[in-house]
Amino acid sequence: MTLKNKHILLGITGGIAAYKCAHLVRLFIKEGAIVKVIMTKASEEFVTPKTLSVLSKHEVVTDFFDANHNWNNHVALAEWADAFIVAPLTANTLAKFATGICDNIVTACYLSARSKVFIAPAMDLDMYQHPTTKYNLDILRKNENIIIPAESGELASGLTGEGRMAEPENIVQFVNQYFENNLPLSGKKVLVNAGPTYEAIDPVRFIGNRSSGKMGVAIADEFAKLGADVILILGPSHQKPVEKSVTVINVESSEEMFNACQAVFVSSDIAVLSAAVADYKPKTIADSKIKKKDAELSIDLVKTTDILETLGKQKKHQLLAGFALETNNVIEYATEKIKKKNLDFIVANSATEKGSGFSVDTNKITIIDKHNKLYNFELKSKQEVAKDIVNFAINYLKIHA
Ligand code: CTP
Repeated sequence: MTLKNKHILLGITGGIAAYKCAHLVRLFIKEGAIVKVIMTKASEEFVTPKTLSVLSKHEVVTDFFDANHNWNNHVALAEWADAFIVAPLTANTLAKFATGICDNIVTACYLSARSKVFIAPAMDLDMYQHPTTKYNLDILRKNENIIIPAESGELASGLTGEGRMAEPENIVQFVNQYFENNLPLSGKKVLVNAGPTYEAIDPVRFIGNRSSGKMGVAIADEFAKLGADVILILGPSHQKPVEKSVTVINVESSEEMFNACQAVFVSSDIAVLSAAVADYKPKTIADSKIKKKDAELSIDLVKTTDILETLGKQKKHQLLAGFALETNNVIEYATEKIKKKNLDFIVANSATEKGSGFSVDTNKITIIDKHNKLYNFELKSKQEVAKDIVNFAINYLKIHA
């Protein structure tokens, strides 16, 4: 479902077709979208804010100020939106959009919108055909708004012809199609793992590491932003993906992480394994808390399963990428891991370089592909690094398609 968890801001202006917006809200919600509604005063004559707030499960904004004189922040609303849909769009509001008039919450959100704006014009036959309307629609088109064409049929005036707002089903399909066609990874299934693992010693103690999970969570977010269906298998970490479409599976031990990765990998198109999986775990887990007795305590450790290497052996159509965190001989060690684990590429970073590693918000990476070609990147925020990695994966898929 392309619209799952997408933020839809619906702007309603004062045309008779506004009554269809109750149905439109329901259809968007059925697609899994989260809907907020804003309305002009005139539109309240045709459909009540109460109906729309019950259906959308959000307060409906009709003015710059609410009943308690609190300011409705149009900039925050516009920023919240992944898509701003104005339906029905009257000739009056169209003219305001075209000239930048900003005298109500809908026109203010229009000027503040960072997302794509979709407009579904609705007016009488002659108004729709008027050169001024055509001129204004052209301005909106040139400004990269997306026009959902009006449909033909019986109009409220009694005339028959072009000017009816597109039916709600068609509006939803139009927006769905747009997202489907414009996101490079829509339809792709992506597995990302992130964070540390905790290997239990006894019921209260574990062996762990300092991985924060920030890098992997940022990668999961970036894949999701570009339309992928992302499953994030996350070790013990306080990080959370921002993108609501990411499915998170929380795990603790390397064994749990292995089982979860294994189950998801088969049906994945892309897998990026960034987790700092423990290499060793206690041979046995004590049933009860180990008591302090002798001066020294030894714990026997055994190797954990190498998740990435195992997936590398099972790999068929998948693009498989891993990470290499090294303190020395970064490129040499990372390159060896590409072969050993049958990877398409590896993201190498140094634990000792300033600004890189576990506990910081930045990273400096080198990507090495399976032909040993190096791609060096500047020191950047982990979000920016995630973009580089995801773009690299997209280009890699294109080249190796
Ligand atoms: N990895 C894994 N399972 C493990 C250990 C590592 O899937 N049990 C993955 C990591 O997620 C990473 C890659 O293997 O993508 C490289 O991890 P790294 O710790 O750099 O290397 P190791 O293979 O563990 O080797 P070494 O610790 O000797 O450098």
